[in-house]
Amino acid sequence: MGATGHLALSAAAKTRSGGRPCAAVLGEPLPALDDAGLLVHPSADFAARALVSSAQQYREMYQRSIDDPAAFWSEIAEEFYWKQRWNPDEVCSENFDVTKGPIKIEWFKGGKTNICYNAVDRNVESGNGDKVAMYWEGNEPSQDGKLTYSELLDKVCQLANYLKSVGVGKGDAVVIYLPMLMELPIAMLACARIGAVHSVVFAGFSADALAQRIVDCKPKVVITCNAVKRGLKLIPLKDIVDTSLVESAKNGVDVGICLTYENQSALNKVDTRWKPGRDVWWQDVVPNFPTKCDVEWVDAEDPLFLLYTSGSTGKPKGVLHTTGGYMVYSATTFKHAFDYKPEDVYWCTADCGWITGHSYVTYGPLLNGASVLVFEGAPNYPDPGRCWDIVDKYGVTIFYTAPTLIRSLMRDGTEYVDRYSRKSLRVLGSVGEPINPTAWRWFYDVVGDSRCPISDTWWQTETGGFMITPLPGAWPQKPGSATFPFFSVQPVIVDEKGRELEGECSGYLCIKKSWPGAFRTLYGDQDRYETTYFKPFAGYYFSGDGCSRDKDGYHWLTGRVDDVINVSGHRIGTAEVESALVSHPKCAEAAVVGIDHEVKGQGIYAFVTLVDGVPYSDDLRKSLIMTVRSQIGAFAAPDKIHWAPGLPKTRSGKIMRRILRKIASRQLDELGDTSTLAEPGVVDQLIALSDS
Ligand code: WTA
Repeated sequence: MGATGHLALSAAAKTRSGGRPCAAVLGEPLPALDDAGLLVHPSADFAARALVSSAQQYREMYQRSIDDPAAFWSEIAEEFYWKQRWNPDEVCSENFDVTKGPIKIEWFKGGKTNICYNAVDRNVESGNGDKVAMYWEGNEPSQDGKLTYSELLDKVCQLANYLKSVGVGKGDAVVIYLPMLMELPIAMLACARIGAVHSVVFAGFSADALAQRIVDCKPKVVITCNAVKRGLKLIPLKDIVDTSLVESAKNGVDVGICLTYENQSALNKVDTRWKPGRDVWWQDVVPNFPTKCDVEWVDAEDPLFLLYTSGSTGKPKGVLHTTGGYMVYSATTFKHAFDYKPEDVYWCTADCGWITGHSYVTYGPLLNGASVLVFEGAPNYPDPGRCWDIVDKYGVTIFYTAPTLIRSLMRDGTEYVDRYSRKSLRVLGSVGEPINPTAWRWFYDVVGDSRCPISDTWWQTETGGFMITPLPGAWPQKPGSATFPFFSVQPVIVDEKGRELEGECSGYLCIKKSWPGAFRTLYGDQDRYETTYFKPFAGYYFSGDGCSRDKDGYHWLTGRVDDVINVSGHRIGTAEVESALVSHPKCAEAAVVGIDHEVKGQGIYAFVTLVDGVPYSDDLRKSLIMTVRSQIGAFAAPDKIHWAPGLPKTRSGKIMRRILRKIASRQLDELGDTSTLAEPGVVDQLIALSDS
């Protein structure tokens, strides 16, 4: 069983007074830390120009953010436009302790603002209308485009006006299922402008997965495009949406409008399936609307977006973020973790279908008036030098990506990197999973020419923004460590009983006290919100991650401790894959575990028990994998199907995943105690079938 299941039983948390999560960084001066050349220092030049340029400066700011979060965040929030200021004595109100009533987090209560206005209009009004807001690079190196802040504002307003004209208003949901075209951030901003709640679904999810999300949030409109090309592959997105809308209708959710962008960059324009009355071409209607659209001023705690993410049960969770706190937090974390400067050209390779694309393609950078690159294609098409070609073409200064991409490019060899100058690069970033020190060094030495600090940012869909991250000019880094907490974030490492561990330690990563970007609930399921995140250790938010802290106070994330696996930086619940597998008529039972994978970080390993009498076959293996692809998406396809005549279970019928993990990773001498198994012989059978 997963660690959380176990942990949930021992919720006796002990709290400690005072907010000093990492004694080392707040106490002893950092230069004393140098151990065996492990530390990588920012250059003196970099540090001198950095927003936070020393550990001392960080320490003072951090301490203030803990001692007086209301004053600290109010000062920052003043930099944004508020139609109405928040109540000064309600900057932050929270109940973070389940034993004291429902969990409730509120920031900037009483304030009225609009995140689209702050991300777009404010930049135009401050004289930056002609600055490039977005560069766009298509699948083919010959395809590109750009929009200034003024042009972006016009496009956002036209779409916002269209959405209003079809009856979308404040609080209504809009599902966005688009590839990385500029129209994707435009659609998010247009929703935000009119107070509608966007729910972006990653365009790699299958029709079934999309339908499940549509049924949950009941949008008035779905926004998509006819097709997308990734590398050489053409994906007919509109067909997928069609199928999902038929499925949603069967489940009682009839979506009135499917706004479809004709994606010129998808060559070989496909014969798009069309349902007159429901389907509308974006280009036929949106450009006819005025380029001015009044802003809907919303409460700081009005919902901004829903984003579904995987948990330890089969049903995805609708993580809900609200407006004011998220705005202030996504912008501030972006600015500091990348040491943002107005002349930067910033590229984050994440898709807007994930939280990274929300906070660090769209909102965080635009709120800072940055020039953001949006890339539609695949990083290894037409060859593995594509990323560096793009870096040189646009003069990218900040490059933010995932370890899985770094490892895959590393495997392709340095010659693809060496072909390009990359001299514009200044700061590198990593997210999504722990970055192994070898990949870190390659990123640092080869991509960044040992010149660019790396911000290894630890955070989650739920946290809205960075939680533990280097501030690149402030302190030396250790390859593989996310280092220290962001302002106001109080990480604590607890043992199984919820006791806070001090000093050098290893355990479960929790957060004490709220931060502005925290999610406020799971859509329509406050119970699950509290049970999953706040009940395992009362008084804390439980992240689901394991973490160690070394003697210098640096944090080292060790991966998920629950039944979630992280494949190429994509979060996948083992239960989701299992429920897809068992929906196959020939599958009686399935158990899925994560295994180490050289490129993807983790791979999906599925033990499958077939219905009595069904023989194993390669065709059946393929058909099981197809089932997962069609119910979730290609990215969740198992890497390995292991035939299992039976699964190791306790006498009470619980599958012993600990044993399955060992079998999957061939650590057969570490199976541990198997005496509690109902049928110990099962393990030998499984081992015998390992290579079948
Ligand atoms: C993992 C992605 C180690 C972690 C932003 C977390 C990381 C999950 C890091 C959240 C990192 C993310 N080092 N692990 N720098 N960043 N993770 O919700 O397991 O898609 O719980 O958010 O990714 O994934 P999510």
